[in-house]
Amino acid sequence: MIARLLALLLVLAGAGVLVAVFRPEPPAEAIELASSRQCLECHADVAAEWQASHHSIAYTNPEVVKLSQDFRNEECLACHAPRPVLLFAPGERVLARASERALGVDCLACHAHPDGGVATSNPRPSAKAPCRPRTTPRIQDVDHCGSCHNQHATVEQWRASPAEIEGQPIKGDGCLHCHMPVAWRAGGRQGSDHSFRAGHDLGALQQAVRLTGEWRAGALVRLVNFGAAHNFPTDERSRAADLQLRWRQGGEWGEWQHLWRFRDPYRDETDLTNTQLPSGETWEQQVDAPPGADGAEARLLYRTNPFQPDDEATEVARLLLEP
Ligand code: HEC
Ligand code: HEC
Ligand code: HEC
Ligand code: HEC
Ligand code: HEC
Repeated sequence: MIARLLALLLVLAGAGVLVAVFRPEPPAEAIELASSRQCLECHADVAAEWQASHHSIAYTNPEVVKLSQDFRNEECLACHAPRPVLLFAPGERVLARASERALGVDCLACHAHPDGGVATSNPRPSAKAPCRPRTTPRIQDVDHCGSCHNQHATVEQWRASPAEIEGQPIKGDGCLHCHMPVAWRAGGRQGSDHSFRAGHDLGALQQAVRLTGEWRAGALVRLVNFGAAHNFPTDERSRAADLQLRWRQGGEWGEWQHLWRFRDPYRDETDLTNTQLPSGETWEQQVDAPPGADGAEARLLYRTNPFQPDDEATEVARLLLEP
């Protein structure tokens, strides 16, 4: 009797396990996505990268606040506190949003899908994710970045860039292979780095250009843009990269002298031309040595604005030339 009861219980328990295994798990409740602060709570790894990026400070960046007169110039709001890009046609310029401007270029700006949920490049996103990811190939397009980054023609420069340089693929199919490299997520999932390192990062600058040269009765100096699929420096007109040269005479180094500036001038600087270095191109100049010189040194300084003094600029490269 007891044995029979136990057997019956075991059968019932077994059936219970089967039911538990085969019953499809109900999808998690979809959530209303009203603020990027919600994303930060669930996607801590991406959030930390974004927080370290210039996208997160687009509205609070002191440089921008100063230049826009605390955004009294409302033209500046559009890209620095934007509405979601996917609300606009591909490549069309974004418009400013009214709420939570301090979050700058936030998660919703790039991910909010016009039909609800979030845009992802993943062809098979999780159906259970509470933020309801939707496959949206457009999020990977150059035009997605171009809604804000083509003001100074970065996307056009990318279109004109070579497929490869020195045998290495450069152009790819957009911006992401360089600007969103692979980042590993919890559980071994492959993700995309959201820290967008560029002009403020020495490593990124050194990936873009190489300084070479030789001693030829003086200094022959070359700079090659071998690693950026657009001009160097690109985009923001305030960027400037300066080559400087100094001579060694009787064992003493002289003062640094200006050799060349790579820059797209401000609109009102009508006496200047665009001297940015296009993707794959080499700039070269020969400077004859002054009498008695037995060595030269060249260096490349990157300035986030054209008036930044030498000691605040980033030294990207330095090169010693001797007979
Ligand atoms: C309540 C938690 C939660 C919130 C809030 C949330 N997500 Fe998610 N999200 C998830 C989970 C869970 C997944 C599925 C697992 C994964 O892919 O990380 C996911 C998946 C995604 C994916 C797809 C990843 C892929 O490769 O398939 C994207 C993109 C995404 N979330 C963006 C966002 C954005 C942007 C926000 C804010 C607007 C947001 N999420 C808010 C939990 C959340
Ligand atoms: C069409 C979009 C767009 C508009 C409009 C816009 N910006 Fe920007 N801004 C950008 C982008 C994109 C960057 C980043 C590009 C870069 O750094 O090379 C940027 C970068 C900057 C930077 C450099 C920040 C730093 O720390 O280096 C400043 C300063 C700035 N913008 C000020 C302004 C001001 C002032 C206005 C209004 C007159 C304005 N922007 C309007 C897109 C825009
Ligand atoms: C909605 C507008 C917008 C979109 C879309 C956008 N960006 Fe930005 N991005 C900005 C602004 C504004 C800044 C400058 C913020 C600052 O420095 O104050 C910036 C900064 C950057 C920087 C850093 C520049 C620096 O000064 O260090 C890089 C790199 C960058 N963006 C690349 C991209 C790429 C690649 C994409 C496409 C995946 C993209 N952005 C999409 C507006 C945008
Ligand atoms: C400048 C645009 C931009 C901003 C801002 C942005 N993302 Fe993304 N995000 C993308 C793009 C583009 C992809 C797809 C990358 C790919 O296909 O390689 C992506 C991929 C993702 C993924 C899937 C891959 C991974 O790394 O897990 C998640 C999750 C995600 N974003 C969440 C967020 C969250 C959360 C925020 C805010 C903290 C945010 N994103 C801000 C453009 C952006
Ligand atoms: C082959 C790699 C590569 C590709 C592709 C690429 N970039 Fe870059 N990008 C770089 C490197 C390296 C730098 C740093 C040097 C510099 O600032 O010019 C950079 C710098 C930048 C900057 C920063 C300028 C600043 O002021 O700090 C922006 C903005 C930018 N890229 C946007 C884009 C956009 C938009 C695309 C796609 C249309 C793109 N990039 C494609 C390599 C690349």
